[in-house]
Amino acid sequence: MYNYFMLKNEVKFIEMKDGDKEDYELLANFEDKYIKGTADRLVRVLKGLDNSMGGYKVSRLEHSLQTASRALRDNASEEMIVASLLHDIGDEIAPLNHSELAAAVLKPFVSEKTRWIVEQHGLFQAYYYNHYYGKDRNLRDKFIGHEFYKDTINFCEKWDQASFDPSYDTIPLKDFIPLVQKIFNRQPYRNL
Ligand SMILES: [Fe+2]
Ligand SMILES: [Fe+2]
Repeated sequence: MYNYFMLKNEVKFIEMKDGDKEDYELLANFEDKYIKGTADRLVRVLKGLDNSMGGYKVSRLEHSLQTASRALRDNASEEMIVASLLHDIGDEIAPLNHSELAAAVLKPFVSEKTRWIVEQHGLFQAYYYNHYYGKDRNLRDKFIGHEFYKDTINFCEKWDQASFDPSYDTIPLKDFIPLVQKIFNRQPYRNL
């Protein structure tokens, strides 16, 4: 016995406004499956960071893995370890606001605290270099008193800025994949 969805694999419309309930139910079915593949696609994007901007002693992928390794070894929460792994995932397509991009990717699946740390890490990280460009290294001061101010300083100081070391004992990507799967298969927006 075949039902409609077994026979049909695309919508009838060529303009969205002409779609009907059947079309949109079909698409919802596709979307559910697609969302479940998010973790795999993120791992693919992460692997692409192996050929990102040069200049450092390690690739962006190695930096990301080191940051996550340090978070894990400091007993950070599971979502914070995954956030550490993905915090620079926006580097390739949003080099001017990569922090915001990573925060948006994480937002449906993590706490506001984790999202905020990732969103602001670029600004906080400027503390380490902005003065060498004649700019204000203390941009982060505008957040003094914010509930996640200290946590973001700690993220940058202990994990992010420290993770450019070619001799560090970095945990391989394959060991983090189950955790990425776990976080991105959570019920989205559970905190809203
Ligand atoms: Fe960053
Ligand atoms: Fe980073």
